[in-house]
Amino acid sequence: MKTAIALLVAGAALAHAQTATTSEPPLKAIKAAAATTKPESPVSDVKGLAFNRFYQVWLENIDYEDASADSNMKWLATQGIELTNFFAVTHPSQPNYCAAAGGDTFGMDHDDFMQVPANVSTVADLLDTKNIAWGEYMEHIPYPGFQGFNYSNQETYKNDYVRKHNPLVLYDSVTKNETRARQIKNFTEFESDLEHKKLPQWAFITPNMTNDAHDTNITFAAKWERSWISTLLKDDYFMKDTVVLLTFDEDDTYTKTNRVFSVLVGGAIPENLKGTKDDTFYTHYSSIASISANWGLPSLGRWDCGANIFEIVANKTGYVNYDVDTTNLRLNHTYPGPLSSGEYSKFSPIWANPTTDAKCSAGHGVLDIVKKTFGKTTPTYNYTTPYPWDAKNDYNVKVTATRKSNSTSDSSETPAHNAGATVVPSFAVISGALLASFVYLA
Ligand SMILES: *[C@@H]1O[C@H](CO)[C@@H](O)[C@H](O)[C@H]1NC(C)=O
Ligand SMILES: *[C@@H]1O[C@H](CO)[C@@H](O)[C@H](O)[C@H]1NC(C)=O
Ligand SMILES: *[C@@H]1O[C@H](CO)[C@@H](O)[C@H](O)[C@H]1NC(C)=O
Ligand SMILES: *[C@@H]1O[C@H](CO)[C@@H](O)[C@H](O)[C@H]1NC(C)=O
Ligand SMILES: *[C@@H]1O[C@H](CO)[C@@H](O)[C@H](O)[C@H]1NC(C)=O
Ligand SMILES: *[C@@H]1O[C@H](CO)[C@@H](O)[C@H](O)[C@H]1NC(C)=O
Ligand SMILES: *[C@@H]1O[C@H](CO)[C@@H](O)[C@H](O)[C@H]1NC(C)=O
Ligand SMILES: *[C@@H]1O[C@H](CO)[C@@H](O)[C@H](O)[C@H]1NC(C)=O
Ligand SMILES: *[C@@H]1O[C@H](CO)[C@@H](O)[C@H](O)[C@H]1NC(C)=O
Ligand SMILES: *[C@@H]1O[C@H](CO)[C@@H](O)[C@H](O)[C@H]1NC(C)=O
Repeated sequence: MKTAIALLVAGAALAHAQTATTSEPPLKAIKAAAATTKPESPVSDVKGLAFNRFYQVWLENIDYEDASADSNMKWLATQGIELTNFFAVTHPSQPNYCAAAGGDTFGMDHDDFMQVPANVSTVADLLDTKNIAWGEYMEHIPYPGFQGFNYSNQETYKNDYVRKHNPLVLYDSVTKNETRARQIKNFTEFESDLEHKKLPQWAFITPNMTNDAHDTNITFAAKWERSWISTLLKDDYFMKDTVVLLTFDEDDTYTKTNRVFSVLVGGAIPENLKGTKDDTFYTHYSSIASISANWGLPSLGRWDCGANIFEIVANKTGYVNYDVDTTNLRLNHTYPGPLSSGEYSKFSPIWANPTTDAKCSAGHGVLDIVKKTFGKTTPTYNYTTPYPWDAKNDYNVKVTATRKSNSTSDSSETPAHNAGATVVPSFAVISGALLASFVYLA
Protein backbone atom coordinates (compact mmCIF):
# COMPACT_ATOMS: atom_id res chain seq x y z
CA MET A 1 0.00 0.00 0.00
CA LYS A 2 2.67 2.41 1.14
CA THR A 3 4.94 1.71 -1.82
CA ALA A 4 2.09 1.49 -4.29
CA ILE A 5 0.94 5.03 -3.55
CA ALA A 6 4.45 6.40 -3.54
CA LEU A 7 5.12 4.81 -6.89
CA LEU A 8 1.89 6.18 -8.29
CA VAL A 9 2.87 9.66 -7.21
CA ALA A 10 6.35 9.13 -8.57
CA GLY A 11 5.04 7.64 -11.78
CA ALA A 12 2.89 10.68 -12.50
CA ALA A 13 5.77 12.99 -11.77
CA LEU A 14 8.23 10.97 -13.81
CA ALA A 15 6.44 11.85 -17.02
CA HIS A 16 8.08 15.25 -16.88
CA ALA A 17 11.34 14.45 -15.15
CA GLN A 18 13.14 11.85 -17.19
CA THR A 19 16.28 11.79 -15.12
CA ALA A 20 14.68 11.02 -11.77
CA THR A 21 14.51 7.37 -10.86
CA THR A 22 12.38 5.58 -8.32
CA SER A 23 15.11 3.03 -7.85
CA GLU A 24 18.72 3.04 -8.88
CA PRO A 25 19.84 3.79 -12.43
CA PRO A 26 22.41 1.35 -13.84
CA LEU A 27 25.96 2.12 -12.77
CA LYS A 28 26.91 2.62 -16.41
CA ALA A 29 24.39 5.43 -16.73
CA ILE A 30 25.62 7.04 -13.51
CA LYS A 31 29.21 6.91 -14.72
CA ALA A 32 28.32 8.37 -18.11
CA ALA A 33 26.42 11.27 -16.52
CA ALA A 34 29.20 11.84 -13.97
CA ALA A 35 31.71 12.17 -16.78
CA THR A 36 29.83 15.04 -18.41
CA THR A 37 27.94 16.85 -15.62
CA LYS A 38 29.81 19.89 -14.38
CA PRO A 39 29.20 21.37 -10.93
CA GLU A 40 27.82 24.90 -10.61
CA SER A 41 29.30 27.10 -7.85
CA PRO A 42 27.75 30.57 -7.82
CA VAL A 43 29.09 33.09 -5.31
CA SER A 44 27.62 36.26 -3.80
CA ASP A 45 28.22 38.61 -0.91
CA VAL A 46 24.89 39.89 0.34
CA LYS A 47 25.16 41.27 3.87
CA GLY A 48 22.65 40.00 6.41
CA LEU A 49 21.58 41.51 9.73
CA ALA A 50 23.11 38.76 11.90
CA PHE A 51 25.18 36.63 9.50
CA ASN A 52 26.38 36.52 5.90
CA ARG A 53 26.42 32.76 5.55
CA PHE A 54 23.98 30.15 6.86
CA TYR A 55 24.68 26.42 6.68
CA GLN A 56 22.92 23.54 8.35
CA VAL A 57 24.21 20.04 9.03
CA TRP A 58 21.70 17.33 9.86
CA LEU A 59 22.45 14.11 11.69
CA GLU A 60 19.86 11.35 12.00
CA ASN A 61 17.39 9.80 14.43
CA ILE A 62 18.73 10.52 17.91
CA ASP A 63 16.62 11.30 20.97
CA TYR A 64 17.40 14.62 22.65
CA GLU A 65 18.53 12.93 25.87
CA ASP A 66 21.03 10.71 24.07
CA ALA A 67 22.52 13.50 21.97
CA SER A 68 22.82 15.89 24.91
CA ALA A 69 24.60 13.20 26.97
CA ASP A 70 27.31 12.68 24.35
CA SER A 71 30.68 14.23 25.22
CA ASN A 72 31.40 15.53 21.71
CA MET A 73 27.93 17.07 21.47
CA LYS A 74 28.59 18.73 24.83
CA TRP A 75 31.81 20.12 23.42
CA LEU A 76 29.99 21.44 20.35
CA ALA A 77 27.55 23.22 22.66
CA THR A 78 30.46 25.07 24.30
CA GLN A 79 31.40 26.48 20.88
CA GLY A 80 28.08 28.23 20.27
CA ILE A 81 24.48 28.69 21.39
CA GLU A 82 22.60 25.53 22.35
CA LEU A 83 18.97 25.64 21.23
CA THR A 84 17.27 23.64 23.96
CA ASN A 85 13.72 23.79 22.60
CA PHE A 86 14.11 22.89 18.90
CA PHE A 87 11.66 20.43 17.31
CA ALA A 88 11.59 18.28 14.21
CA VAL A 89 8.17 18.40 12.54
CA THR A 90 7.18 14.77 11.91
CA HIS A 91 8.43 11.21 11.20
CA PRO A 92 10.17 9.57 9.39
CA SER A 93 13.20 11.32 7.83
CA GLN A 94 12.14 12.46 4.38
CA PRO A 95 9.24 14.77 5.32
CA ASN A 96 11.54 16.64 7.71
CA TYR A 97 14.08 17.32 4.96
CA CYS A 98 11.20 18.26 2.66
CA ALA A 99 9.85 20.69 5.29
CA ALA A 100 13.20 22.43 5.74
CA ALA A 101 13.24 23.33 2.03
CA GLY A 102 9.60 24.01 1.17
CA GLY A 103 7.87 24.82 4.47
CA ASP A 104 5.49 21.85 4.49
CA THR A 105 5.38 18.06 4.80
CA PHE A 106 2.45 17.75 2.35
CA GLY A 107 1.19 14.97 4.60
CA MET A 108 4.23 12.81 3.91
CA ASP A 109 4.76 9.87 6.27
CA HIS A 110 7.35 7.75 4.41
CA ASP A 111 10.82 7.65 2.85
CA ASP A 112 9.71 6.38 -0.58
CA PHE A 113 10.48 8.07 -3.88
CA MET A 114 8.43 11.25 -4.34
CA GLN A 115 8.54 14.59 -6.15
CA VAL A 116 6.88 17.86 -5.17
CA PRO A 117 5.18 19.59 -8.12
CA ALA A 118 6.83 22.57 -9.78
CA ASN A 119 4.26 25.10 -8.52
CA VAL A 120 5.64 24.68 -4.98
CA SER A 121 8.46 27.14 -4.21
CA THR A 122 11.40 26.55 -1.90
CA VAL A 123 14.04 28.37 0.06
CA ALA A 124 16.06 28.47 -3.19
CA ASP A 125 13.45 30.83 -4.68
CA LEU A 126 13.63 33.08 -1.62
CA LEU A 127 17.42 33.31 -1.90
CA ASP A 128 17.22 33.92 -5.66
CA THR A 129 15.19 37.12 -5.08
CA LYS A 130 18.44 38.75 -3.92
CA ASN A 131 20.86 36.55 -5.87
CA ILE A 132 22.15 35.00 -2.66
CA ALA A 133 24.17 31.99 -3.81
CA TRP A 134 22.96 28.65 -2.45
CA GLY A 135 23.95 25.03 -2.74
CA GLU A 136 23.81 21.62 -1.15
CA TYR A 137 26.64 19.31 -0.22
CA MET A 138 25.57 15.68 -0.02
CA GLU A 139 28.34 13.29 0.89
CA HIS A 140 28.99 10.86 -1.98
CA ILE A 141 26.25 11.98 -4.33
CA PRO A 142 27.96 10.65 -7.47
CA TYR A 143 27.58 13.77 -9.61
CA PRO A 144 25.94 17.23 -9.41
CA GLY A 145 22.16 17.09 -9.61
CA PHE A 146 21.94 13.27 -9.44
CA GLN A 147 18.28 12.43 -8.95
CA GLY A 148 18.43 8.70 -8.28
CA PHE A 149 17.06 7.03 -5.18
CA ASN A 150 20.44 5.99 -3.74
CA TYR A 151 24.09 5.57 -4.46
CA SER A 152 25.63 2.90 -2.30
CA ASN A 153 29.24 2.23 -1.49
CA GLN A 154 30.34 0.46 -4.67
CA GLU A 155 32.61 -1.97 -2.82
CA THR A 156 30.54 -2.96 0.21
CA TYR A 157 27.07 -1.98 -1.12
CA LYS A 158 26.35 -0.40 2.24
CA ASN A 159 24.08 2.67 2.35
CA ASP A 160 26.03 5.78 1.47
CA TYR A 161 24.14 8.61 -0.35
CA VAL A 162 20.33 8.53 -0.16
CA ARG A 163 17.85 10.80 -1.89
CA LYS A 164 15.53 10.92 1.15
CA HIS A 165 18.13 13.03 3.00
CA ASN A 166 18.44 15.59 0.20
CA PRO A 167 15.89 18.41 0.70
CA LEU A 168 16.05 20.34 -2.58
CA VAL A 169 16.20 17.32 -4.90
CA LEU A 170 12.66 16.48 -3.78
CA TYR A 171 11.33 19.61 -5.53
CA ASP A 172 10.62 19.80 -9.27
CA SER A 173 11.03 23.59 -9.06
CA VAL A 174 14.69 22.90 -8.35
CA THR A 175 15.48 19.82 -10.41
CA LYS A 176 13.71 20.89 -13.60
CA ASN A 177 16.18 23.76 -13.85
CA GLU A 178 19.46 22.24 -14.91
CA THR A 179 21.59 25.07 -13.47
CA ARG A 180 19.92 24.73 -10.08
CA ALA A 181 20.31 20.96 -10.06
CA ARG A 182 24.06 21.32 -10.60
CA GLN A 183 24.32 23.31 -7.34
CA ILE A 184 23.64 20.01 -5.52
CA LYS A 185 27.13 18.58 -5.12
CA ASN A 186 29.20 16.22 -2.99
CA PHE A 187 31.80 16.70 -0.25
CA THR A 188 34.64 16.54 -2.77
CA GLU A 189 33.14 19.64 -4.35
CA PHE A 190 32.76 21.21 -0.90
CA GLU A 191 36.49 20.86 -0.36
CA SER A 192 37.12 22.31 -3.78
CA ASP A 193 34.72 25.26 -3.26
CA LEU A 194 36.32 25.89 0.13
CA GLU A 195 39.79 25.90 -1.37
CA HIS A 196 38.80 28.20 -4.25
CA LYS A 197 36.66 30.48 -2.07
CA LYS A 198 33.58 29.57 -4.08
CA LEU A 199 31.28 28.55 -1.24
CA PRO A 200 27.66 29.77 -1.41
CA GLN A 201 26.00 31.87 1.31
CA TRP A 202 23.34 29.24 2.08
CA ALA A 203 23.94 25.51 2.12
CA PHE A 204 22.49 22.27 3.40
CA ILE A 205 25.00 19.61 4.36
CA THR A 206 24.17 15.91 4.59
CA PRO A 207 26.85 13.48 5.74
CA ASN A 208 26.49 9.92 4.47
CA MET A 209 24.56 7.16 6.22
CA THR A 210 27.62 6.17 8.25
CA ASN A 211 28.62 9.63 9.45
CA ASP A 212 25.12 10.95 10.17
CA ALA A 213 24.35 8.21 12.76
CA HIS A 214 21.70 6.55 10.61
CA ASP A 215 23.66 3.31 10.30
CA THR A 216 25.93 3.93 13.30
CA ASN A 217 25.14 5.72 16.55
CA ILE A 218 25.49 9.06 18.33
CA THR A 219 29.02 8.29 19.58
CA PHE A 220 30.21 7.79 16.02
CA ALA A 221 28.32 10.69 14.46
CA ALA A 222 29.14 13.24 17.16
CA LYS A 223 32.80 12.38 16.80
CA TRP A 224 32.52 12.84 13.04
CA GLU A 225 30.70 16.16 13.45
CA ARG A 226 33.16 17.53 15.97
CA SER A 227 36.06 16.61 13.77
CA TRP A 228 34.43 18.07 10.63
CA ILE A 229 33.44 21.39 12.20
CA SER A 230 36.64 21.80 14.25
CA THR A 231 38.72 22.17 11.10
CA LEU A 232 36.25 24.67 9.70
CA LEU A 233 36.00 26.70 12.91
CA LYS A 234 39.64 27.57 12.38
CA ASP A 235 39.08 28.59 8.75
CA ASP A 236 38.65 32.38 8.53
CA TYR A 237 37.24 32.31 5.01
CA PHE A 238 34.56 29.81 6.00
CA MET A 239 33.70 31.14 9.44
CA LYS A 240 33.73 34.92 9.04
CA ASP A 241 30.17 36.14 9.72
CA THR A 242 28.92 32.55 9.41
CA VAL A 243 26.28 30.64 11.36
CA VAL A 244 26.12 26.85 11.15
CA LEU A 245 23.09 25.08 12.58
CA LEU A 246 23.99 21.60 13.82
CA THR A 247 20.83 19.59 14.33
CA PHE A 248 19.01 16.28 13.72
CA ASP A 249 16.26 15.41 11.27
CA GLU A 250 14.08 13.85 13.99
CA ASP A 251 14.30 11.98 17.27
CA ASP A 252 14.38 8.19 17.39
CA THR A 253 11.48 7.26 19.65
CA TYR A 254 8.21 8.02 17.86
CA THR A 255 6.22 8.36 21.07
CA LYS A 256 8.50 11.12 22.34
CA THR A 257 8.14 14.84 21.56
CA ASN A 258 10.52 15.01 18.57
CA ARG A 259 12.70 17.59 20.30
CA VAL A 260 16.17 17.45 18.74
CA PHE A 261 19.54 18.56 20.10
CA SER A 262 20.66 21.66 18.21
CA VAL A 263 23.53 24.15 18.35
CA LEU A 264 24.37 27.33 16.44
CA VAL A 265 28.11 27.77 15.91
CA GLY A 266 30.31 30.02 13.79
CA GLY A 267 32.04 33.35 13.51
CA ALA A 268 28.79 35.32 13.62
CA ILE A 269 27.99 34.08 17.13
CA PRO A 270 29.00 36.86 19.57
CA GLU A 271 31.85 35.76 21.82
CA ASN A 272 29.86 36.42 25.02
CA LEU A 273 27.07 34.06 23.86
CA LYS A 274 29.32 31.06 23.24
CA GLY A 275 28.45 28.28 25.66
CA THR A 276 25.01 29.78 26.43
CA LYS A 277 21.56 28.31 25.90
CA ASP A 278 18.55 29.75 24.06
CA ASP A 279 15.28 28.15 25.19
CA THR A 280 13.08 29.75 22.52
CA PHE A 281 10.74 27.33 20.74
CA TYR A 282 12.03 26.56 17.24
CA THR A 283 11.21 24.02 14.52
CA HIS A 284 12.80 23.13 11.18
CA TYR A 285 10.58 25.90 9.74
CA SER A 286 12.53 28.42 11.85
CA SER A 287 15.59 28.00 9.65
CA ILE A 288 13.61 29.35 6.67
CA ALA A 289 12.03 32.19 8.67
CA SER A 290 15.42 33.13 10.12
CA ILE A 291 17.18 33.47 6.77
CA SER A 292 14.22 35.52 5.50
CA ALA A 293 14.54 37.89 8.47
CA ASN A 294 18.33 38.00 8.17
CA TRP A 295 18.48 38.91 4.48
CA GLY A 296 15.14 40.71 4.13
CA LEU A 297 13.57 37.97 2.02
CA PRO A 298 9.90 37.09 1.58
CA SER A 299 8.23 33.99 3.00
CA LEU A 300 7.00 30.87 1.24
CA GLY A 301 3.63 31.50 2.88
CA ARG A 302 3.68 28.02 4.38
CA TRP A 303 4.73 27.00 7.91
CA ASP A 304 7.80 29.20 7.67
CA CYS A 305 5.44 32.21 7.72
CA GLY A 306 4.66 32.17 11.44
CA ALA A 307 7.77 30.30 12.61
CA ASN A 308 9.87 31.73 15.42
CA ILE A 309 13.11 33.35 14.30
CA PHE A 310 16.50 32.50 15.82
CA GLU A 311 17.09 35.05 18.56
CA ILE A 312 20.40 36.18 17.07
CA VAL A 313 18.32 37.51 14.14
CA ALA A 314 15.06 38.37 15.95
CA ASN A 315 17.05 40.64 18.27
CA LYS A 316 18.15 42.64 15.24
CA THR A 317 14.72 42.98 13.60
CA GLY A 318 12.81 43.60 16.86
CA TYR A 319 10.53 40.63 16.16
CA VAL A 320 9.23 39.14 19.39
CA ASN A 321 9.02 35.35 19.28
CA TYR A 322 6.31 33.23 20.86
CA ASP A 323 6.61 31.00 23.88
CA VAL A 324 4.84 27.79 22.93
CA ASP A 325 3.34 25.57 25.59
CA THR A 326 4.50 22.20 24.25
CA THR A 327 2.44 20.08 26.69
CA ASN A 328 -0.09 19.16 24.00
CA LEU A 329 2.17 19.58 20.99
CA ARG A 330 2.46 16.44 18.85
CA LEU A 331 5.05 16.87 16.14
CA ASN A 332 5.57 13.11 15.86
CA HIS A 333 3.14 12.82 12.93
CA THR A 334 1.58 15.09 10.35
CA TYR A 335 -1.80 16.11 8.88
CA PRO A 336 -3.38 14.59 5.74
CA GLY A 337 -1.91 15.33 2.34
CA PRO A 338 -1.11 14.04 -1.15
CA LEU A 339 2.23 12.54 -0.06
CA SER A 340 0.69 10.39 2.66
CA SER A 341 0.97 6.63 2.28
CA GLY A 342 -1.76 6.14 4.84
CA GLU A 343 0.58 4.73 7.46
CA TYR A 344 0.92 7.57 9.99
CA SER A 345 -1.17 10.24 8.27
CA LYS A 346 -4.29 10.16 6.09
CA PHE A 347 -4.17 10.46 2.32
CA SER A 348 -5.80 13.52 0.77
CA PRO A 349 -5.33 14.45 -2.90
CA ILE A 350 -5.21 18.19 -2.13
CA TRP A 351 -1.89 20.03 -2.38
CA ALA A 352 -2.06 22.66 0.36
CA ASN A 353 -2.42 26.29 -0.73
CA PRO A 354 -0.11 28.73 1.06
CA THR A 355 -1.14 32.08 2.48
CA THR A 356 -0.38 35.00 0.16
CA ASP A 357 -1.29 38.11 2.14
CA ALA A 358 0.37 37.69 5.55
CA LYS A 359 3.37 39.78 6.62
CA CYS A 360 4.91 36.69 8.31
CA SER A 361 7.42 36.64 11.18
CA ALA A 362 10.28 37.78 8.97
CA GLY A 363 8.17 40.82 8.07
CA HIS A 364 8.55 40.86 4.29
CA GLY A 365 5.32 39.26 3.10
CA VAL A 366 5.10 36.36 0.67
CA LEU A 367 7.18 35.56 -2.43
CA ASP A 368 5.77 37.12 -5.64
CA ILE A 369 5.47 33.88 -7.60
CA VAL A 370 3.55 32.32 -4.70
CA LYS A 371 1.15 35.29 -4.74
CA LYS A 372 0.76 34.99 -8.49
CA THR A 373 0.13 31.23 -8.42
CA PHE A 374 -2.00 31.01 -5.28
CA GLY A 375 -3.40 34.54 -4.84
CA LYS A 376 -6.92 33.49 -5.78
CA THR A 377 -6.95 30.37 -3.63
CA THR A 378 -7.86 29.99 0.05
CA PRO A 379 -4.95 29.12 2.35
CA THR A 380 -5.33 25.53 3.52
CA TYR A 381 -3.98 26.21 7.02
CA ASN A 382 -3.56 29.06 9.48
CA TYR A 383 0.10 29.53 8.66
CA THR A 384 0.76 32.49 10.96
CA THR A 385 1.28 30.38 14.10
CA PRO A 386 4.76 29.37 15.31
CA TYR A 387 3.80 25.66 15.11
CA PRO A 388 1.78 23.67 12.54
CA TRP A 389 -1.84 22.89 13.42
CA ASP A 390 -5.05 21.99 11.62
CA ALA A 391 -8.50 22.32 13.16
CA LYS A 392 -10.17 20.07 10.58
CA ASN A 393 -8.01 17.15 11.58
CA ASP A 394 -7.68 17.85 15.29
CA TYR A 395 -3.93 18.37 14.82
CA ASN A 396 -2.26 20.40 17.58
CA VAL A 397 -5.47 22.31 18.29
CA LYS A 398 -4.90 22.32 22.04
CA VAL A 399 -1.53 24.04 21.82
CA THR A 400 -1.22 27.63 23.02
CA ALA A 401 1.38 30.28 22.34
CA THR A 402 2.07 33.62 24.02
CA ARG A 403 4.31 36.43 22.93
CA LYS A 404 7.57 36.35 24.85
CA SER A 405 7.93 39.30 27.12
CA ASN A 406 10.29 41.89 25.69
CA SER A 407 12.77 42.66 28.43
CA THR A 408 12.75 46.38 27.68
CA SER A 409 9.01 46.82 27.33
CA ASP A 410 6.03 46.06 29.53
CA SER A 411 5.00 42.52 28.64
CA SER A 412 1.32 43.22 29.20
CA GLU A 413 1.52 45.67 26.36
CA THR A 414 1.09 44.26 22.92
CA PRO A 415 4.19 43.97 20.88
CA ALA A 416 4.08 46.88 18.48
CA HIS A 417 5.57 44.55 16.02
CA ASN A 418 4.09 41.40 14.68
CA ALA A 419 6.32 41.04 11.73
CA GLY A 420 5.50 44.54 10.71
CA ALA A 421 1.79 44.14 11.34
CA THR A 422 -0.10 45.17 14.43
CA VAL A 423 -1.82 42.59 16.54
CA VAL A 424 -4.92 43.70 18.37
CA PRO A 425 -3.77 43.99 21.99
CA SER A 426 -6.10 41.74 23.92
CA PHE A 427 -5.10 38.65 21.98
CA ALA A 428 -1.58 38.12 23.15
CA VAL A 429 -2.40 34.46 23.68
CA ILE A 430 -3.06 32.35 20.66
CA SER A 431 -4.49 28.91 20.41
CA GLY A 432 -6.36 26.96 17.83
CA ALA A 433 -9.67 28.34 19.05
CA LEU A 434 -8.53 31.94 19.34
CA LEU A 435 -6.71 32.27 16.11
CA ALA A 436 -9.49 34.02 14.22
CA SER A 437 -9.21 36.85 16.72
CA PHE A 438 -5.93 37.93 15.17
CA VAL A 439 -6.42 41.06 13.22
CA TYR A 440 -3.56 42.30 11.17
CA LEU A 441 -3.47 46.00 10.52
CA ALA A 442 -0.87 46.04 7.84
C1 LIG B 1 31.85 13.98 -6.47
O1 LIG B 1 31.35 14.65 -7.62
C2 LIG B 1 32.30 14.74 -8.64
C3 LIG B 1 31.66 15.55 -9.75
O2 LIG B 1 31.29 16.81 -9.25
C4 LIG B 1 32.70 13.37 -9.13
O3 LIG B 1 33.68 13.48 -10.11
C5 LIG B 1 33.27 12.58 -7.96
O4 LIG B 1 33.51 11.28 -8.35
C6 LIG B 1 32.28 12.57 -6.80
N1 LIG B 1 32.95 12.00 -5.65
C7 LIG B 1 32.41 11.06 -4.90
C8 LIG B 1 33.25 10.59 -3.80
O5 LIG B 1 31.32 10.61 -5.11
C1 LIG C 1 20.85 1.21 -4.33
O1 LIG C 1 20.41 0.39 -3.24
C2 LIG C 1 20.06 -0.93 -3.61
C3 LIG C 1 19.59 -1.64 -2.38
O2 LIG C 1 18.57 -0.95 -1.77
C4 LIG C 1 21.25 -1.64 -4.21
O3 LIG C 1 20.85 -2.92 -4.66
C5 LIG C 1 21.80 -0.84 -5.36
O4 LIG C 1 23.00 -1.44 -5.81
C6 LIG C 1 22.08 0.58 -4.96
N1 LIG C 1 22.52 1.28 -6.16
C7 LIG C 1 23.68 1.90 -6.28
C8 LIG C 1 24.02 2.46 -7.60
O5 LIG C 1 24.44 2.05 -5.36
C1 LIG D 1 30.83 7.42 4.49
O1 LIG D 1 31.86 8.37 4.33
C2 LIG D 1 33.07 8.07 5.00
C3 LIG D 1 34.04 9.20 4.73
O2 LIG D 1 33.51 10.40 5.25
C4 LIG D 1 33.63 6.74 4.51
O3 LIG D 1 34.75 6.41 5.27
C5 LIG D 1 32.57 5.67 4.66
O4 LIG D 1 33.03 4.47 4.10
C6 LIG D 1 31.30 6.09 3.94
N1 LIG D 1 30.28 5.06 4.16
C7 LIG D 1 29.95 4.19 3.22
C8 LIG D 1 28.93 3.17 3.59
O5 LIG D 1 30.43 4.20 2.12
C1 LIG E 1 17.37 28.45 -13.43
O1 LIG E 1 17.96 28.75 -12.18
C2 LIG E 1 18.88 29.81 -12.23
C3 LIG E 1 19.55 29.88 -10.88
O2 LIG E 1 18.66 29.74 -9.81
C4 LIG E 1 18.15 31.08 -12.63
O3 LIG E 1 19.06 32.15 -12.71
C5 LIG E 1 17.48 30.87 -13.98
O4 LIG E 1 16.71 32.00 -14.28
C6 LIG E 1 16.58 29.65 -13.94
N1 LIG E 1 16.09 29.37 -15.26
C7 LIG E 1 14.80 29.20 -15.53
C8 LIG E 1 14.47 28.89 -16.93
O5 LIG E 1 13.96 29.29 -14.65
C1 LIG F 1 28.30 3.20 19.42
O1 LIG F 1 28.90 2.10 18.79
C2 LIG F 1 30.21 1.81 19.25
C3 LIG F 1 30.73 0.62 18.49
O2 LIG F 1 30.62 0.81 17.12
C4 LIG F 1 30.21 1.54 20.73
O3 LIG F 1 31.54 1.39 21.19
C5 LIG F 1 29.54 2.68 21.48
O4 LIG F 1 29.42 2.37 22.84
C6 LIG F 1 28.16 2.94 20.89
N1 LIG F 1 27.57 4.09 21.56
C7 LIG F 1 26.34 4.11 22.02
C8 LIG F 1 25.86 5.39 22.65
O5 LIG F 1 25.60 3.15 21.92
C1 LIG G 1 2.91 10.38 19.05
O1 LIG G 1 3.07 10.52 20.44
C2 LIG G 1 1.90 10.19 21.17
C3 LIG G 1 2.19 10.50 22.63
O2 LIG G 1 3.33 9.83 23.06
C4 LIG G 1 1.55 8.73 20.93
O3 LIG G 1 0.36 8.42 21.61
C5 LIG G 1 1.39 8.48 19.44
O4 LIG G 1 1.19 7.11 19.20
C6 LIG G 1 2.63 8.93 18.70
N1 LIG G 1 2.41 8.83 17.26
C7 LIG G 1 3.19 8.07 16.48
C8 LIG G 1 2.90 8.14 15.02
O5 LIG G 1 4.10 7.38 16.90
C1 LIG H 1 18.58 38.78 22.59
O1 LIG H 1 18.17 39.84 23.44
C2 LIG H 1 17.87 39.44 24.77
C3 LIG H 1 17.29 40.63 25.50
O2 LIG H 1 18.09 41.76 25.30
C4 LIG H 1 19.14 38.90 25.42
O3 LIG H 1 18.85 38.46 26.71
C5 LIG H 1 19.65 37.73 24.60
O4 LIG H 1 20.90 37.29 25.09
C6 LIG H 1 19.83 38.12 23.14
N1 LIG H 1 20.13 36.90 22.42
C7 LIG H 1 20.95 36.83 21.38
C8 LIG H 1 21.15 35.49 20.79
O5 LIG H 1 21.49 37.81 20.92
C1 LIG I 1 -0.25 23.03 -8.07
O1 LIG I 1 0.07 21.75 -8.60
C2 LIG I 1 -0.74 20.69 -8.11
C3 LIG I 1 -0.19 19.39 -8.63
O2 LIG I 1 0.02 19.44 -9.98
C4 LIG I 1 -2.17 20.92 -8.53
O3 LIG I 1 -3.00 19.90 -8.03
C5 LIG I 1 -2.64 22.27 -8.00
O4 LIG I 1 -3.93 22.55 -8.48
C6 LIG I 1 -1.70 23.39 -8.42
N1 LIG I 1 -2.12 24.59 -7.74
C7 LIG I 1 -2.30 25.75 -8.37
C8 LIG I 1 -2.84 26.88 -7.58
O5 LIG I 1 -2.03 25.89 -9.55
C1 LIG J 1 -8.09 28.49 11.19
O1 LIG J 1 -8.52 29.12 12.37
C2 LIG J 1 -9.96 29.27 12.49
C3 LIG J 1 -10.25 29.99 13.77
O2 LIG J 1 -9.75 29.30 14.86
C4 LIG J 1 -10.62 27.90 12.46
O3 LIG J 1 -12.02 28.05 12.47
C5 LIG J 1 -10.22 27.18 11.19
O4 LIG J 1 -10.75 25.88 11.20
C6 LIG J 1 -8.70 27.09 11.11
N1 LIG J 1 -8.34 26.45 9.88
C7 LIG J 1 -7.55 25.38 9.85
C8 LIG J 1 -7.31 24.82 8.49
O5 LIG J 1 -7.02 24.88 10.83
C1 LIG K 1 11.92 44.85 22.12
O1 LIG K 1 13.07 45.42 22.71
C2 LIG K 1 14.06 45.85 21.80
C3 LIG K 1 15.21 46.43 22.60
O2 LIG K 1 15.75 45.44 23.39
C4 LIG K 1 13.51 46.88 20.83
O3 LIG K 1 14.49 47.20 19.88
C5 LIG K 1 12.31 46.30 20.13
O4 LIG K 1 11.73 47.26 19.30
C6 LIG K 1 11.28 45.81 21.15
N1 LIG K 1 10.21 45.19 20.43
C7 LIG K 1 8.97 45.40 20.73
C8 LIG K 1 7.98 44.68 19.88
O5 LIG K 1 8.62 46.11 21.64
